[in-house]
Amino acid sequence: MYILAIESSCDDTAAAIIHDGRPLSNCVANQEIHRLYGGVVPEVASRAHQNNIVPVVKAAIDKAGITMADINAVAFTRGPGLLGSLLVGTSFAKAFALARQLPLIEVDHMTAHVMAHFAEEPHPAFPFLCLTVSGGHTQIIRVDSPLSMTILGQTLDDAAGEAFDKAGKMLGLEYPAGPHIDRLARQGTPRFPFPEPVIEDLGFSFSGLKTSILYFLKKEVAANPDFIEQNLADICASIQHIIVTVLLKKLKKSAKKTGIKQLAIAGGVSANSGLREGLQALCAKEGWEYFIPKFEYCTDNAAMIGVTAYYKYLAGDFCGQEVAPYVRGGM
Ligand code: KG4
Ligand code: ZN
Repeated sequence: MYILAIESSCDDTAAAIIHDGRPLSNCVANQEIHRLYGGVVPEVASRAHQNNIVPVVKAAIDKAGITMADINAVAFTRGPGLLGSLLVGTSFAKAFALARQLPLIEVDHMTAHVMAHFAEEPHPAFPFLCLTVSGGHTQIIRVDSPLSMTILGQTLDDAAGEAFDKAGKMLGLEYPAGPHIDRLARQGTPRFPFPEPVIEDLGFSFSGLKTSILYFLKKEVAANPDFIEQNLADICASIQHIIVTVLLKKLKKSAKKTGIKQLAIAGGVSANSGLREGLQALCAKEGWEYFIPKFEYCTDNAAMIGVTAYYKYLAGDFCGQEVAPYVRGGM
């Protein structure tokens, strides 16, 4: 059973072929143009998706070593994401399914980030907790089965990846700044204490942290114009330290509250070395198990869409040609 999966929710155009629930190919066309603007420009993203989608789908089919005639179902990201971007993948998937008379499966992007854990072995058993951290989302999810998930906590404002990217912008780092902060943090010491956001229960907030970093930098640069240059690694280490501390504190709290001892991370920020090391250390201390997907399944990709679609296919959960994308919500 072969599924063609399409992902186009933000700035990556992705396609994958899934065979009996496992990826045979996972192709992504990154849109480098957004670096010039220091962030994703929705209109530019949508146009680039239109240029990329046919070659990316072709590459996924070729790499899987199959032909179009072998495909049994078409899956696509319905939301959440940028409307213009989602429309390209949705329209393509619908047209493909219509032309070849194939069943159509709509997939929620956040559910798919969690289901990326099932692209390969080993995968967590149910129930488990998943911290999904990306440029657009920060959520702690209780996962009871492939299609049954509950959000236990989420951010009230900025996402964790957004916090990395916005802090990096203040430091003059290229977008997306998360990987640069991670790299620089490894050479520094977290000696600048940024205040920890105080949010009740399992929620998150990163916009106050962004403001405190901004004021801290303004004050220091006023006294010493070379402050950032001279202390870049230590500033990055301090920013990463506070973000990772907050994320792991809430994940630990969720585990204690639910009694669930299997912790997973997903989304682009799960590539962060501080988060990975912190999660390992936490689980070693508490006797819990942790799961981190391979990097290509952490960032936005179509394999995770196809893996989720496989479980929907087994459940007979298909959609019609009338289905429209959604910008917010879902799961
Ligand atoms: O999941 P993803 O590829 O796309 C979204 O759905 O947003 O995540 C991208 C985010 C960006 O904010 C990027 O800065 C962040 O993940 N990121 C990192 C690292 N690698 C990617 N943040 C911190 N450390 C990293 N190593
Ligand atoms: Zn994502």
